[in-house]
Amino acid sequence: MNIGILGLGTVGGGVVNVLNKNQAQITRRSGDNINITHAAVRDTTQIRICPTEDIKLTQDPFEIINNNDIDVVLELMGGTGLAKDLVEQAIENGKHVVTANKALIAIHGNKLLALAKDNNTHLLFEAAVAGGIPILKILEQGLSANQIELVAGIINGTSNFILTEMRNKGRDFGDVLKEAQALGYAEDDPTFDVEGIDAAHKLAILASMAFGCELQFNQVSTEGISKISGEDITFATELGYTIKHLGIAKKLDGKLQMYVHPTLVPKTHLLSNVDGVMNSVLVKGNAVSETLYYGAGAGAEATASSVIANLIDIIKGTVNHDILGWKSLKNIPNCNTGDIE
Ligand code: NAP
Ligand code: HSE
Repeated sequence: MNIGILGLGTVGGGVVNVLNKNQAQITRRSGDNINITHAAVRDTTQIRICPTEDIKLTQDPFEIINNNDIDVVLELMGGTGLAKDLVEQAIENGKHVVTANKALIAIHGNKLLALAKDNNTHLLFEAAVAGGIPILKILEQGLSANQIELVAGIINGTSNFILTEMRNKGRDFGDVLKEAQALGYAEDDPTFDVEGIDAAHKLAILASMAFGCELQFNQVSTEGISKISGEDITFATELGYTIKHLGIAKKLDGKLQMYVHPTLVPKTHLLSNVDGVMNSVLVKGNAVSETLYYGAGAGAEATASSVIANLIDIIKGTVNHDILGWKSLKNIPNCNTGDIE
């Protein structure tokens, strides 16, 4: 199985490293050898977090998309311009695509998923939401017997890292943001993290999966953490709360409501103890009641874990998009009509 990667930065480099370190298990589980043959980057001379001797580096990503020997494309580049053109073209060329790009899926996902369906290819994006937590698979498969009533959680690692460092060490907002960037947690444009846009992208995807309706990023009411001061955090602590940036999607009178905003979470609640770059997602189903998932929300290898899980599903032929609405994508309801599962 030949793989081409678009982008060999934090996530792309993590994918190569995890494939190398777990090669034997991944080959056994997928039933095939995975060969990363090509990778597109801007700068072919840069020192990377992964070895590149066996990979052909190119500055022209279309070289990968139009290469007939490549079976699966991993879009790990980011953005919604060039990345969209590349993903479209890859699908039209009959390639399966795995992406970690939540902006791309939240904004263009309805069209891209319909295109993939028309071309009999898969477009998978587990890594786009909550990094290493396999939350989309949980919604699609593990909780498929339920009507979902609520999805809520900490879904931006950078914001959670900043709030945690401000509370525990009294650190300055800008200072911690710089560290999050250096650690590879933040988006290329970090205002996406601190203004809640990244969390809104993820919430739109989560809600779509959970409630079986089309992606509606524009319907997410969005507020970030950029206005939270050290004083706010001190007062919250004195009153018995922790400030957490939450994404919340729920049904109210049959309609979908989606919000991301800083929230006062009682110290006794499990979510208030989710610190640093960790994410946690609470899902309430009408059969199972409340369930809670926890894990790294960003970072090279945690995110690679989700990318490679999608890749293994494609190779094994175990992709399951049949459960919560994606199968009949052209006919899925608009949540705001009140017609949701
Ligand atoms: P990154 O470290 O900035 O890596 C981006 C890669 O894309 C770089 O290798 C860059 O090349 C390459 N690239 C960008 N524009 C290109 C172009 N025009 N032509 C060829 N190559 C190009 O970004 P990242 O953190 O890995 O994030 C990648 C994607 O994963 C984004 O959609 C992000 O939202 C998503 N994501 C990230 C994380 C995380 O923890 N970082 C977690 C989940 C999802 P150079 O290296 O030569 O500059
Ligand atoms: N910038 C994102 C975050 C990366 O901090 O959560 C993971 O999606």
